[in-house]
Parts: sequence; C-alpha cells; structure tokens
Amino acid sequence: MHSVLLVRTERHTMTDSLFTPLTLAGTTIPNRVAMSPMCQYSAPEGRATDWHRVHLGSRAVGGAGVVMTEATAVSPAGRISPTDLGIWSDEHAEALRDTVAFVREQGSVPGIQLAHAGRKGSTVPPWDGGGPIPPADGGWETLAPSADPYPHPDGEPVPTREMSHDDIDRVTAQFRRAAERARDVGFQIAEVHLAHGYLLHEFLSPVTNHRGDEYGGSFENRARFSLEVTRAVREVWPDDRPVFVRISATDWLPDRESWTLDDSARLAPLLADAGADLIDVSSGGIHPDQQIPETGPGYQIPYAERVNGATDVAVGAVGGITTPQQADQLVRNGRADLAIVGREHLRNPYFALEAAHELGVDVEWPKQYERGRFR
Ligand SMILES: Cc1cc2nc3c(=O)[nH]c(=O)nc-3n(C[C@H](O)[C@H](O)[C@H](O)COP(=O)(O)O)c2cc1C
Repeated sequence: MHSVLLVRTERHTMTDSLFTPLTLAGTTIPNRVAMSPMCQYSAPEGRATDWHRVHLGSRAVGGAGVVMTEATAVSPAGRISPTDLGIWSDEHAEALRDTVAFVREQGSVPGIQLAHAGRKGSTVPPWDGGGPIPPADGGWETLAPSADPYPHPDGEPVPTREMSHDDIDRVTAQFRRAAERARDVGFQIAEVHLAHGYLLHEFLSPVTNHRGDEYGGSFENRARFSLEVTRAVREVWPDDRPVFVRISATDWLPDRESWTLDDSARLAPLLADAGADLIDVSSGGIHPDQQIPETGPGYQIPYAERVNGATDVAVGAVGGITTPQQADQLVRNGRADLAIVGREHLRNPYFALEAAHELGVDVEWPKQYERGRFR
C-alpha cells in the first residue's frame, strides 16, 4: 500500500513562512503551527469526554494547522495513569469521532499520538502527585525491554516485566490496530510516540535496554522495535495521510552510555524509510538523573535542526516556542518545517490566529468570531 519511492514531502523553499501551507503525503496542513500532544488525564476508562472535545476543538477554532491528541494508549497496560486517553477498542475510537470531525470542520488537521508508556506506566495523575500506583492499589505490571523498574523518585517502583518476543509482536499489533481505528474515525495524522522514556524509547536507549537478543545490544537491534512499529502503522495508514514520529533527540545523560543526538541523526533516515513523513524532535524522559542544560526559548530547536540535516523528510521543532516571531523564524530559516507549540497553547488557544495578526498575514477566521477579529 505504501511506497517509499513516493515523494511525500515538499521540502523547504526560501519563501516558506509560518503561514505557508505544508503538504505531507498528499495532506495539506494550512499553516506551520501544531498543537503539541499534552496528556489531560481526564479520560475515565480511557474514553474521551467533553473535556477532549473542548480542549482539542478550541485549538482548532484558534487556527492551529495541526491539532494533536495527547498520548493515546494502544492498550490498557500502555497508559501512564488510569485516566489516560486510550484507543484499544472500537468504542474508544468512536468516542473521538465527533471531535475529529469538528477539528476538520475548522480547517485544522487532526492527529493522534499513539503511545505505550512501558515502564513509566501505572502512575497517578500529576495533580495527585504523579507517583507510582502499586498493584495492590489498582496499579498494573508494566512492560519494558528489561526487568528494571523506573526509579520513581517519589515512591516504590512498579513491577516491570521484560518483554518476550510474543509481547513485542502483540504490542506491534496493538499499534497497528489502534492506527486502523484512528484512520476509520477520520484522523489525518498518526504520530508514533518514540520519546520521553516510554516503551519504544526504552528499547532505543542503552540506559533501559539490556537485552541480549535481536532487540538489544547494537544500535540496529535497539532500533528494531521502533522501526517495526512505524512500519506497522504505515502499512495501515492511507498513503495520502502522513505518519509522524516523535523522538527524544538525546537522553541528557552524558555521564553514561545513553541515547545521543548522533544516534538520532542516524535513526532519522531509517524512520523515513519505515514510512515516517515528519520527525517531531523532543528530548529526555528516560531517567530522573537526566541533566537538562537549559529549557529557555526554543531549547530543542538545535536538535531539530541537526535531525533536519540528516533526513529528507520534514521535521518539527518543539520546546519553548512561545512567540509568533520565534515560530516564523524557525520556518523561514529552514531549521524545521513545523513549529510545535505546547504550553503556550494551554495559555492561549488562539495562538495561531494571534500569530497571523502579529505577522501581518490575512487568514480566515471562524465566521462566528469574525466580529472579534483584530483590525
Ligand atoms: C501538560 C503536559 C502534558 C504533556 N503530555 C505529552 C504527551 O502526551 N505526549 C508528548 O509527546 N509530550 C507531552 N508533553 C510534552 C509537550 O508535548 C511538549 O513537548 C513540551 O511541553 C515542550 O513544549 P512547550 O515548551 O511548547 O510546552 C506534555 C507537556 C505538558 C505541559
């Protein structure tokens, strides 16, 4: 179904700016502003509620070109918390259908981040402290490449099982099935979560992967599971809709053998060959000892730029992007193709409409809000 020979990406040209549409795999994103995936911990039994409709719908009304769901678990064991959003049944997918349609009606492109939390699962939501939930209190055994639990700074480790080959095949099938459900309710982008210390990142990183089989040891072996999952999603995702992958560019653990920016630059073309149309470049999350040098404005943009230089597919930058000028410069200077905005979107759902005004670009407003338009 998918051909790697297909030219899926229109790469940067000198005239691109924040409001130049971006066509990936035949899907046109109206501008280069994306809402970053952000967990809401508000889905009882994994099911979307009115909260999701309003949360995602508002950012579409606010003009974001891409509206991405939070990490959406492909299985119950793949949740971070008991109230994470999930897509492990048709019913879960149906609960998202109206929201997807609404986002599309606003002219935005709806995306879903497909995720498995691995050994970072079975925790309480951050507003309840974020610590681990032991099985006796309703927690669950987590899955990981090796049987080392995540060293939670604030509680007893959650029991963690080393995945067998059957487990690996089952999780790959869960990602594939989740993508089929997301496809069938109208999502236009599937993003595979390979970042932030969750399951697939745990296989990539030597900090968490101590396996002796073909899924551990060498770079190729550690990358195997991520590439298999990306291929599985691509196989069922229509050719005219893009697949994104989110990576952690570095583990920020220079004191030990860990995942580095060089590894990310090496992985990027392999992900592209596996069917990724855009690489969303984040960082960190594998271990609480991580040494993050600084988290100021655009702190991960240099990582996106490096990955951009290593692949022909599009790249998204995320982290500390809070102003229209910053986002616009990022695209104009060819450092990345998409400005992915997280917390600023929590403060301001209308970030994209305000950005257009500040940058002097005439964009269409929702007709209902036309009288409130900046003049
Ligand atoms: C409340 C919250 C929830 C988040 N949940 C996710 C998530 O579900 N998936 C993910 O990849 N990143 C998640 N992140 C990280 C953001 O997507 C983003 O990468 C990070 O906040 C840096 O971007 P920013 O500086 O624009 O906020 C979350 C961040 C926040 C603040």
